[in-house]
Amino acid sequence: MTANATRGRFVTLEGIDGAGKSTHVGFLAERMRARGRPVVTTREPGGTPAGERLRELLLGEPMHHDTETLLVFAARREHLARVISPALARGDWVLCDRFTDATWAYQGGGHGVDSARIAELERWVHGGVHPDLTILFDLPPAVSRGRLERAAANGRTLDKFERESDDFARRVRAAYLERARAEPARFRIVDSTRPVETVRDELARIVDAL
Ligand code: TYD
Repeated sequence: MTANATRGRFVTLEGIDGAGKSTHVGFLAERMRARGRPVVTTREPGGTPAGERLRELLLGEPMHHDTETLLVFAARREHLARVISPALARGDWVLCDRFTDATWAYQGGGHGVDSARIAELERWVHGGVHPDLTILFDLPPAVSRGRLERAAANGRTLDKFERESDDFARRVRAAYLERARAEPARFRIVDSTRPVETVRDELARIVDAL
């Protein structure tokens, strides 16, 4: 947790594609607001005008994996400078749909980008800001694949990462779980194979304990 009591809390949501983060963002924000603090809800890649344009590129365009890594961190620099750091300094809470754990999982675990490079960019771009709490929505790739296929059948166009193989998703999931094991105080792993209501009950308990 952050040392300064006047500083807001920084909560991030992570998980493989189709894990259900987006389903729960609104509920989590409301529950956090009930704690009496303004909550800024945002996402990565994105969260700023420049970041949203980078998101379009990142999710649509095939590119070298190093380029992808540099672009997610470029979007993140903008996001931290314009949105996240000012909100935390005001004492607001920030709820961010994906953050740097996604880079470790997707670019590092999924694409094999060198971890020393990711660590260096993280040090440079974060400038000491780190999430206080990260909720990892966890489920097997076979289950998420089923959800993504149903979404596609209902007319949703899958993005570049959602079209990746199940093997890619397995590597991303393994990287997330490894990070959670390495930092158990920061992570809460939520079993996302359960019904929405059951997941919600657990999320409410997590937020109320913040
Ligand atoms: P996602 O968060 O799943 O958005 P939505 O719920 O709207 O589909 O999409 C963001 C995608 O970006 C996701 O597939 C993971 C990818 N991503 C990275 O590869 N690296 C990163 O550092 C971040 C933040 C996201």
